[in-house]
Amino acid sequence: MAESVSRRTFLGVAGPGAAAVAGTAAFSAAAVESAAAIKIVGVACSPRKGKTTAQALRICLEAARAVDPQRIEVELIELAGLKIPAQVVAGIPLEADERDDFPDVASKLANPKVAGILVGTPVYFANMTTLCKAFIDRCGMFRKKNFALSGKVAGVVAVGGVRNGGQELVIQSVQAALFCHEMLVVGDGRPTGHFGARLWNDGSDDISRDDFGVKTAKNLGRHVAEVALARSAPAR
Ligand SMILES: Cc1cc2nc3c(=O)[nH]c(=O)nc-3n(C[C@H](O)[C@H](O)[C@H](O)COP(=O)(O)O)c2cc1C
Repeated sequence: MAESVSRRTFLGVAGPGAAAVAGTAAFSAAAVESAAAIKIVGVACSPRKGKTTAQALRICLEAARAVDPQRIEVELIELAGLKIPAQVVAGIPLEADERDDFPDVASKLANPKVAGILVGTPVYFANMTTLCKAFIDRCGMFRKKNFALSGKVAGVVAVGGVRNGGQELVIQSVQAALFCHEMLVVGDGRPTGHFGARLWNDGSDDISRDDFGVKTAKNLGRHVAEVALARSAPAR
């Protein structure tokens, strides 16, 4: 969604002469790198691509980027259509021809530039989707790798088919798993200020119709970005 301004892309855009400039003290590599300091990723755990959970996450990510478009890059990862076998966490190997898309998702989350992660799921019978649970279970590998998600800021988005269909229960359930990673879990910021983004799909599959839910999504995205940016600020 957003463009990052890394040293490599800066040199690519600005041409060969820029290499010499970028090598000077006045325009150091560190200064260029800091232009796009952090990345915030949304993970949509609905089996339906591009539907209300993905829409809600896009709203969060836009709000996150708006906090500082020069320094914040965002990306939406949709798990719809991906195969995330959960049984491997229990030591049961993949079938010979079984696909596993989790490593690609994991490598994106492991990027040190990723300072914030938004997990979004539809409410299915007052709980997260199977896809979301499989994703969360597989993320256990980050704990085994020296708590690789530790310190990253996290926020949760839940979309239900009714106004109070279990969104808060789902948010709490996902948050509980994220706490296990030493992630810094935050809720939606002021003025809605509660547990996370909680949205209602009125059956139209158009989440923009839920004015209040959209506000919680915007506030969550903004809050995650603000905390992530504050944590990434260089020590004075
Ligand atoms: C199997 C199933 C169970 C559901 N259970 C609930 C529920 O308990 N509470 C609720 O508010 N909505 C429930 N819904 C509605 C979905 O949460 C809602 O349609 C949501 O917008 C789907 O997200 P998506 O558009 O990203 O796929 C359920 C939908 C399905 C398919």
